[in-house]
Amino acid sequence: MGSKKFMLRNGLGELIRDQLQHANRFVDPFCGSGSVVYFVAQNFDKQIIACDLQEYAVVLANAVISRTQKTDTELLKKDWLDIAEKKIQKSKLFLKATNLDKLYSKNIRKWVKESRKLCETKSIIGPVWNAYGGHYFSPKQSLTFDYLIKTLPQDKELRNLCLASVIGAASKCAASPGHTAQPFQPTKTAKKFIKDAWEIDVIKSCESILEEIAKNYAKTKGIALVSSAQQITSTLMKGDLVIVDPPYSGVQYSRFYHVLETIARGKCGSVSGVGRYPAWAERPQSEFSNISTSIKALEDLMSGLIKKEVTVIFTFPKGKCSNGLSGEKVREIAEKWFNIDGESRTHEHPICGKFSTMGGNNKTKIKGDRVKAARIMSEEIILLLKPKTNVDITRVDTTKIYECR
Ligand SMILES: C[S@@+](CC[C@H](N)C(=O)[O-])C[C@H]1O[C@@H](n2cnc3c(N)ncnc32)[C@H](O)[C@@H]1O
Repeated sequence: MGSKKFMLRNGLGELIRDQLQHANRFVDPFCGSGSVVYFVAQNFDKQIIACDLQEYAVVLANAVISRTQKTDTELLKKDWLDIAEKKIQKSKLFLKATNLDKLYSKNIRKWVKESRKLCETKSIIGPVWNAYGGHYFSPKQSLTFDYLIKTLPQDKELRNLCLASVIGAASKCAASPGHTAQPFQPTKTAKKFIKDAWEIDVIKSCESILEEIAKNYAKTKGIALVSSAQQITSTLMKGDLVIVDPPYSGVQYSRFYHVLETIARGKCGSVSGVGRYPAWAERPQSEFSNISTSIKALEDLMSGLIKKEVTVIFTFPKGKCSNGLSGEKVREIAEKWFNIDGESRTHEHPICGKFSTMGGNNKTKIKGDRVKAARIMSEEIILLLKPKTNVDITRVDTTKIYECR
C-alpha cells in the first residue's frame, strides 16, 4: 500500500531524523501499514500521534507506538493461541473443513468449489468463515481466523497486539495479489497460488508475527486513532513534525483492504461481488481517493496544518495520479502557505510485485500480483515544508485563493 519502508532507508529516514531534532512530537495522519511510525517510535524519544480512516491501520500502528516495553509472548501463546487451537479442534465445522482438505486439495478447482459451498453454512463464531471462506482463505484458515478473533485477550494493550498479529497473518495467507481487492480464481495459471496460500498454517504464521511485533516498542508512548487527517489537524501544536503521505489512487483503499478491516472490526455485514466486498457504508471513503474532491481535501488539510504552524514532510508520486493529484499540484498548493525547504528532493524507488501501485500512478501501473515479480521504478517527491512567517492564519480560507505578501 505504498509502504514507505524502502524510502525510509533511502533519504526519508534521514530527513525525519534531522527534522525531529527541532520537533516536540511526530504526527502521521495517514499511517497505513505503520512503517513510518514504527521507525520513529523505535528510534526517537518523541511522542507519536497517528491516524487513518481504516481501523486495521490503527491497530497495526498502536501495536508498536502505544507499548513502551517488550511483551513476553509465552503467556499469550498459552492463554490465547493454545486456547483458540483447542476450541477450533472441537468445532464440527473444523472436522468438515479438514475432511474437505483431505479429499480435494489435489484438485484445486474442486477444492475451491466445495470450500465455497461449505462456507455457506452459517457460522456465528466470527465474520471470516461466511464472508471470505473459499475465496481468500480455505475453510480451515477462515475458521481459525474467527476463533483467533473470538478468543483475543481482554486486556486492551494485549488484545491490540494480538489482533495486529492476526491482521498480519491474514495479509500473509490471503490468496490474492498483494491486496484484497479480488481473490485468485482457480484458473490454469493462478490455481497454484491458491494452493500455496491456503496451505499456510494460520496459527504458526500468527505466532511468528506476534513474536516479531512483540519485540518492538516505542521509546515514548504514542497513540493512533481512527480519524480523518483533516480532523486531526485541529489537535496539532506548533513544534509538531507532520508526515503527509496521502492516497494517490482514485480507487478507495477500503476496496483493497476490506478483508483486513473486517478482521480489525471483528464483524461485517453481507458481502457481494467477486471481491466479496462488504456494503459501501461499511467501507471508509476518502475524499483523497475521489477525483472530484481530492484537491479540496488537500487544500483543507494544508490550511489546517498552516493554522497550527507545523513543519511538514510531504511525500507524493511525481507524475499525475488517478485521483487527479500530482507532485506538481501538491507543490502548487503547498507553496501558498509553506516555504519549500532546500532539503526537498525527488526520490526514485522500485515498486515490486507484492506492493502494487493500485492504479495510482498511470506511468507505473502494474498488475499488483505476486505472479509477476516486476521491478518498476517510481519517482516520488519529498517536500520539506516550513510555514511562511507572513501568513495571516486567521484569514486562511480554502474557499478563496489565498494571497501571501
Ligand atoms: C499512501 S497510504 C499511507 C502509507 C503509509 N505511509 C505507509 O507507509 O504504509 C494512505 C493511507 O491514508 C489513509 N487515508 C485515506 N484518506 C484518509 C484521510 N482523509 N484521513 C486519514 N487517512 C486517510 C488510507 O486508508 C491509507 O492507509
